[in-house]
Amino acid sequence: MISGPVLLIGSNGLLGSEIASAFKEHQISFVEKNSSSLDITDPQAIAKVLEALKPKWIINAAAYTDVDKAETDRERARLINAVGPKHLAELATGANARLIHFSTDYVFSGEGDKPWTEMDPTKPVPRNWYGETKLMGEKAVRNHPNHLVVRVQWLYGKKKNRFAGLKSREKFSPFVDQFGAPTWSRDVVKAVLALIVQEATGLFHFAYDDFASWMDVYQFVKEEWHLPVKLIPARTREVNLPAQRPLNGRLANDKLKRQLKVQSLGSWKTSLKEFLHQGQHD
Ligand SMILES: NC(=O)c1ccc[n+]([C@@H]2O[C@H](COP(=O)([O-])OP(=O)(O)OC[C@H]3O[C@@H](n4cnc5c(N)ncnc54)[C@H](OP(=O)(O)O)[C@@H]3O)[C@@H](O)[C@H]2O)c1
Repeated sequence: MISGPVLLIGSNGLLGSEIASAFKEHQISFVEKNSSSLDITDPQAIAKVLEALKPKWIINAAAYTDVDKAETDRERARLINAVGPKHLAELATGANARLIHFSTDYVFSGEGDKPWTEMDPTKPVPRNWYGETKLMGEKAVRNHPNHLVVRVQWLYGKKKNRFAGLKSREKFSPFVDQFGAPTWSRDVVKAVLALIVQEATGLFHFAYDDFASWMDVYQFVKEEWHLPVKLIPARTREVNLPAQRPLNGRLANDKLKRQLKVQSLGSWKTSLKEFLHQGQHD
């Protein structure tokens, strides 16, 4: 299915661990590195691993993902999200390896109400250093001739259950004015595997066919789990978080559908329903 040595970086994270599980399930052999066995901000360490493994595929699931903390921990966020991917891209080119990298809807301004396509101009909202650093990182990777960059959003999965906490809450205030879709890491990985099999290159958005606000999402969870929690609508401008969020983060999936030759990439509701009823949420 996938030929040649595979190097998976960031294998302890939400998406990285899901990729590792899928590789094991499909009996794809790979070498995994976590932050203690490979620091992507260290080019010599990367070069050493590439020299030893000679990978055909490098999958970078490592990132600095604490959006609010990035506002003050700026240099660390830049090193991991921008400089690390640049090192990986340069060294992958030298090693003749394909580089797969992940980015975010936070590279967009959040203006308007249309889903963002891969052709749309990027412009992170002011006061969102995470978005800025991710944009720098994806630009560096896209300079690499054999890159695949997949933008994703609002991820959840085994390693990050955004919803379990709702069970013990009396009240919760989801945003009514941020739009996108909660995305199961499992679904992203399925699409990425299909892209790898096709040896696809370029930039793709992974998204379902439908969208929601965070309020819609938590209302759905409340109903699926029959929870007593009271949901009180929140507006982004009224909540003073360290980092600003884009309001419209909807990602268009037409390019990915064309590439994978599918009519649909499903609905966030169908995936979330399955996840919520898997019984691993306490
Ligand atoms: N989560 C989301 O909702 C979301 C939304 C949009 C885009 N994305 C993108 O999707 C990708 C995967 O995100 P995720 O949610 O799976 O992230 P995650 O769970 O935070 O995992 C990131 C991993 O990166 C590792 N890491 C951090 N610094 C490193 C370094 N210097 N060298 C090597 N590894 C390092 C971390 O290791 P330690 O745990 O040991 O620190 C962690 O395992 C990222 O590109 C992210 O920007 C995520």
